Amino acid sequence: MAKILVAYHSQSGNTERLARSVAQGVMSTENAHAVFKRAADTTARDIKDCDALVICSPEYFGYMAGAIKDLFDRTYEELKEDPATKKKPFCIVISAGNDGSGALAHIERICKGYRFKRVQHPVVCKGQVTEEMLAQCLELGKTVAEGVNAGIF
Ligand SMILES: Cc1cc2nc3c(=O)[nH]c(=O)nc-3n(C[C@H](O)[C@H](O)[C@H](O)COP(=O)(O)O)c2cc1C
Repeated sequence: MAKILVAYHSQSGNTERLARSVAQGVMSTENAHAVFKRAADTTARDIKDCDALVICSPEYFGYMAGAIKDLFDRTYEELKEDPATKKKPFCIVISAGNDGSGALAHIERICKGYRFKRVQHPVVCKGQVTEEMLAQCLELGKTVAEGVNAGIF
């Protein structure tokens, strides 16, 4: 059973909707389970235990949400040398007003430090959440779960 961690932060609900869609995509896949958690509640153990993680952040002030940064701050020391996290498949979803590049670049840089492996292009959603964005996130969740199950990541 592929276990996919979807860790998110959301203040006004946009990122949460996208993250829920990712989790739905995971759950619609046979033999896959989504662990859907706010970043503030996510622990190093959650990251260790999952087969892949999807990090979903809004862009605030050209950066990731503070709660996502806090997740990294709380877990990096414990996980940076852990063989269980080396090459762990990950991907990123960003919700932004009109940009998203700052949040994305900084999350990618930190994930490199963990030695996670990027397995899908990031999904950067700008402006109001649309059905198309939700469909893209659903597809992302499915693809990650199927990839883990197929052993291709
Ligand atoms: C404090 C704050 C700072 C923001 N800074 C940016 C920014 O730098 N670039 C951008 O494109 N959007 C920015 N936005 C817009 C949010 O990224 C956008 O509304 C996003 O969908 C919010 O996600 P959420 O509903 O999950 O909190 C900002 C919003 C807030 C509240």
